[in-house]
Amino acid sequence: MRSTFLPFARPDISEDAIADVADSLRSGWITTGPKTVKFEKSFGEYTGSPYSLAVNSATAGLHLALMAFGIGPGDEVITTPMTFAATINTIVLVGARPVLADIDPVTLNIVPGAIERAVTPRTKAVIPVHFAGRPCEMEAIEEIADRHGLVLIEDAAHALGAEFRGRRIGAPLGERHAAVFSFHPTKNITCGEGGMVCTGCEDAAEKISVLRQHGMSKGAWNRYAATGTPHYDILFPGFKYNMLDIQAAIGSDQLKRLDIFNARRREIVDTYRREMGDIEGLRLPPSPEKGDLHSWHIFTPLIDTDLLGFSRDDFMAKMRAMNIGTALHYQAIHLFSFFADNYGWKRGDFPNAEYVSDRIVSLPLFPAMTDDDIADAVEAVRRICKKG
Ligand SMILES: Cc1ncc(COP(=O)(O)O)c(C=O)c1O
Repeated sequence: MRSTFLPFARPDISEDAIADVADSLRSGWITTGPKTVKFEKSFGEYTGSPYSLAVNSATAGLHLALMAFGIGPGDEVITTPMTFAATINTIVLVGARPVLADIDPVTLNIVPGAIERAVTPRTKAVIPVHFAGRPCEMEAIEEIADRHGLVLIEDAAHALGAEFRGRRIGAPLGERHAAVFSFHPTKNITCGEGGMVCTGCEDAAEKISVLRQHGMSKGAWNRYAATGTPHYDILFPGFKYNMLDIQAAIGSDQLKRLDIFNARRREIVDTYRREMGDIEGLRLPPSPEKGDLHSWHIFTPLIDTDLLGFSRDDFMAKMRAMNIGTALHYQAIHLFSFFADNYGWKRGDFPNAEYVSDRIVSLPLFPAMTDDDIADAVEAVRRICKKG
């Protein structure tokens, strides 16, 4: 057994990033400023997005994207039950009603046909989540959104570097579209915490830019710089969702390393597949469709609890006892107290999400994993499933 604990994820911060953070700290300018602008520019170049707006989390980004497209009370927003709370919380926080459409039990992504069935005259937006970094069926989802005049917000928290039929996630999909990325420490790149909203809509970009900083017509950088002027206007009440230059310094360096990170993620997944493909009691996630690129933010097999005779939580505890970390992405969202109490959702409403929610586990996956780390994780899974 390993003598040290292998976490399920760990960020890889370079000395260059640390030096650039120190540069910010020494410069006297540590909040939103030139490093944030530079990060936004390179992010736009990478994704092909005309506007990229840095914020302090993907949660903030989803909130602002919904607001920028005018989603609010009386509106319905369709999303998946297999997601993190932020996706649905932000719908509720703008005053709209969340509506769920079940997932495919193999790809774990929202099913376009289920979206179509959930559309009502009140539906204003749809938020597909590219689960684990596997692109959703965007052609079909785009077609549904276009036909019903819906805003399309991609929750791309897992999907930086992923591609759907050659289109990099984050590239524009018409005027009523945004994609939101997360830089939380477990994600494909990190800033500590952070997020980015990509859109091709100039009006939405302007609104997000103002809303992320109190609704002010100018950011602090424009007011306090040598050439700035002190006056500003409040265009509407906004939030404090801006990204710091300290964060952007890390983000810029991480973005430069993203393709190398993602290549290593794919290598680890290939090894997992090769080494665990024959283990009974474990269903491995499928490869992406032809022409797509998976960003493998997480690697999430399903535990066959019937065959093995123990629960997913037991599996996680056994891994922990062997010094291997795992994580749970996600518990089906509709079964949490707030959503069940307020929307009347119950077990049985979204059976595929429930099936997955009871069996899914995230194994260790991060670019700095060594080949020995991978072998340790495989060995632990093999021993646990054999005993089962
Ligand atoms: C699918 C999904 N959406 C949104 C978020 C929120 O991201 P953040 O932590 O940057 O606010 C997460 C974070 O884990 C996520 O997994």
